[in-house]
Amino acid sequence: MAKNQLRLGVNIDHVATVRNARGGAYPDPVRAAKLAEEAGADGITAHLREDRRHITDADIDALMAALSVPLNFEMAATEEMQRIALRHRPHAVCIVPEKREERTTEGGLDVAREENRLAHFIAPLRDAGCRVSIFIAADRRQIDAAHRIGAEVIELHTGAYCDYHAEGRFEDRDRELEALLEMSAYAHALGLEVHAGHGLTFDTVQPVAAFPEVKELNIGHFLIGEAIFCGLTPAVQEMRRLMDAARG
Ligand code: PXP
Repeated sequence: MAKNQLRLGVNIDHVATVRNARGGAYPDPVRAAKLAEEAGADGITAHLREDRRHITDADIDALMAALSVPLNFEMAATEEMQRIALRHRPHAVCIVPEKREERTTEGGLDVAREENRLAHFIAPLRDAGCRVSIFIAADRRQIDAAHRIGAEVIELHTGAYCDYHAEGRFEDRDRELEALLEMSAYAHALGLEVHAGHGLTFDTVQPVAAFPEVKELNIGHFLIGEAIFCGLTPAVQEMRRLMDAARG
């Protein structure tokens, strides 16, 4: 991988969503992960939710055994998830907020409010060799708190930026993009590695991919949706091409 290349993490949660709609074994998220890997993904992301609505414990076992690229294990800050992560020791753990009633991860984690608890929560994960990432909004307070608790990575939530784009609210979109750019530089200057993701599409990926401080994008729902129309391999390849072109 070229030094300046932006990493692409492909989130395969929604392959499991389709599988679970029928309760069987098809389509297999591991097969999708291997295809994404061959198509240019630098990592695979999977979110084991408390309610197991898409990815299951067995999927995590199978992904750990099958992948040649790193697994980014997304999880809520619960004891159960900590135990699972410590058993698998994935390359990376991304701590996300989770509410049962939400359709997807709606906002960033309020690290500032839970600073003490989260500092204790991530310490054993770091000790086990996992790179701990915290999913947060582009907010200086949250970045400072993530830094203080000892996270190595933050992932900036791009959901609001993508929603504004989809709704045609371009002034709001551009303001959000500006905040993401400014906060990625701020976090990088503190020594944090900066990732970004949520809601990114072919139309919205390039401005974020162009941020020099961002090292990784995690993209799922759009790619799995696009795969219905053109196949997963072309979808991942096109995302990769757009990211590389934006990076120059
Ligand atoms: N990053 C994080 C932390 C997420 O929780 C998600 C959604 O699971 C993503 C990235 C990917 O978002 P999307 O599926 O909208 O591309």
